[in-house]
Amino acid sequence: MRPGGALPLIVMLPGDGIGPEITAAARELLDAVGDFDFDERPIGGASIDAHGSALTDEVLEACRRADAVLLAAVGGPKWDAAVAADPTAPRPEQGLLGLRKGLGLFANLRPVRPSPALLDASPLKRDRIEGTDLLVVRELTGGIYFGESGREGDTAHDDCAYSVPEIERIARVAFRSARAKVTSVDKANVLETSRLWRETVTRVHVEEFADVPLDHLLVDNAAMQLVSRPADFDVIVTENLFGDILSDEAAMLTGSLGMLPSASIGDTGGGLYEPVHGSAPDIAGTGRANPLAMFGSVALMLRHGLGMADAAAGVESAVDRALEGGLLTPDLGGEAGTEEATRAVLANL
Ligand code: NAD
Ligand code: IPM
Ligand code: MN
Repeated sequence: MRPGGALPLIVMLPGDGIGPEITAAARELLDAVGDFDFDERPIGGASIDAHGSALTDEVLEACRRADAVLLAAVGGPKWDAAVAADPTAPRPEQGLLGLRKGLGLFANLRPVRPSPALLDASPLKRDRIEGTDLLVVRELTGGIYFGESGREGDTAHDDCAYSVPEIERIARVAFRSARAKVTSVDKANVLETSRLWRETVTRVHVEEFADVPLDHLLVDNAAMQLVSRPADFDVIVTENLFGDILSDEAAMLTGSLGMLPSASIGDTGGGLYEPVHGSAPDIAGTGRANPLAMFGSVALMLRHGLGMADAAAGVESAVDRALEGGLLTPDLGGEAGTEEATRAVLANL
């Protein structure tokens, strides 16, 4: 609750593609859950079209003032084409990266908890998936995403750098989140940043969290283990780029990328809540987008950003019950569109 008894203030960032469709669904869900003040702002391609930049100072300021921020997705072929024609043109993704960096959101938590009703919706066999309940802790404001980059003639480069304090703080988030163990994923057999990563995670473990079991996996092996024995993982902590890739892979354990939510948090502020998936331009405007990753992000926002744990649990169990009742969107092999899926969840709230 804000000072003076004001309602919690949520900045809504619909963005592009299916973003506005799943944001409208999230708005219906939030209206059913409680009373909030909403401040809807453009980001990504929508902001480029309106203001010439993917993230304006005004929107960043609005996010700083908010109790929590809910973002759907940015990007699309229209702006990719503009960049292909003019490499200096703004890119929608810069808006999201600028927001994460600007708000100091260095930790991205991506829980992977397949709903029992969807064990047969995954391309992976049920007996592999059963018992899976893992958390990808992705470093979000460092590494190759934020290094120096450029082109000279026929050569391009993207530098990857990590500092000890950046690794220490994400390692602490991972150890604090663990219930059984932490698996740190790197490419220490090749990369210097990964050797620093492994050394630092190991030191934080020994000095501060020796009671939490820790193991290390090389990222190529981790990608394989994630689909062969997913139930053996608890917390996976890894750098920005590896976390991006492994979490899309892990999404298929839940049946679809359209199921996976995330929370992006820092040392202060209410955080940013965002589905793992993108703007899905291939289905935008068809009414077929799965809103459940967005609903899962709403639940994470209620719990971690707004201190409304009961409401969060209510949303999560409404989603599980709707799925048990047979709800399946097209990405899960069914026919239910965004509106029907939203009605099914609201009916179980
Ligand atoms: P994507 O995640 O948008 O889509 C990948 C595939 O998954 C597509 O076939 C899509 O239809 C499907 N899918 C994704 N979300 C879905 C949902 N909720 N319901 C049903 N199907 C869903 O990835 P992409 O196609 O590689 O990228 C498209 C654009 O999105 C790019 O511009 C990319 O930069 C951007 N992107 C943004 C974010 C973000 O804003 N957080 C994340 C990833 C990608
Ligand atoms: C994600 C997305 C973003 C990322 C892109 C759109 C910048 O893929 O949130 O996973 O790579 O972080
Ligand atoms: Mn991604």
